[in-house]
Amino acid sequence: MSKVLIEKEGNIAVVYMNNLDKKNALDESLSSELLESIKKLAEDESIYVVILTSAGDVFCAGGDITEFAEGVELTALEHYSKKNINVDVLRIVDILKKPLIAAVSGYALGGGFGLVANAHIVVSHPDTRFGLTEINLGILPYVIFPYVKRAVGEREAILLTLMGKTISSQEAHRIGLVHFIDENPLKKAKEIASQIAQKSPLILKLLMDMINVSHNPSSCESEYLSLLRIVNFSAQDLKIGIESFLNKQKPQWINK
Ligand code: COA
Repeated sequence: MSKVLIEKEGNIAVVYMNNLDKKNALDESLSSELLESIKKLAEDESIYVVILTSAGDVFCAGGDITEFAEGVELTALEHYSKKNINVDVLRIVDILKKPLIAAVSGYALGGGFGLVANAHIVVSHPDTRFGLTEINLGILPYVIFPYVKRAVGEREAILLTLMGKTISSQEAHRIGLVHFIDENPLKKAKEIASQIAQKSPLILKLLMDMINVSHNPSSCESEYLSLLRIVNFSAQDLKIGIESFLNKQKPQWINK
């Protein structure tokens, strides 16, 4: 049984994590299938927006604790040769280079919290619990922390890491992790995705590039961003957008 299921509707893809016996724990097979799916969707020109969700009742229970138990027996070199998958699975947004919406229910813990922090937009069921619970197992969210810090700021990230408690959807909304709380997160995510999918795909690509370099812009990055602006001005989709607005018409993007 595949641990990742993909459903395509027009220009939108829904990625379902399907490791339900373990509450979508990110074991090696789920992580590698998820990465492969994201890489394929990155290449798929027909897909403009991607939704990440669960095929079951829990979004993701984090790293696989049984694999952690086995990891205690491994040498540092064996850990080193395995490290890339853990790092890469939390870089899905960078790999995808398309808007990613997380539709979250149940729990998003540890690495699951990391996936949520990675997403551009987060829709949560009111009863979802979020947490960086690693410290309770005697480990820390090493590769997750930078993404959580980016999403909610350093002080909230430190508090979550130190306390190891779970927080409600409402609290996650307050700290900026969750954008929307909805009884049907997937339906709401699809509504948002279909609005985004109406934008020019070319401009969406530029937007992803802008986001990736603008987290903390250095002067070099600012130069790059102003270069992106110049590229945008040479796009026919910009001309189409302006003319459509002035003529009170819906723009017909040509992706050029
Ligand atoms: N790794 C491996 N297996 C996990 C897992 C994880 N992170 N999370 C859940 N599972 C397994 C459980 O061991 C259980 O297996 P079993 O059926 O063989 O006993 C199965 O998934 C169902 O979990 P259960 O705890 O019975 O479900 P629940 O609905 O009562 O609780 C959670 C769900 C997610 C709250 C709870 O499983 C949990 O706290 N998991 C650990 C989360 C965690 O600490 N993550 C951080 C890891 S760094």
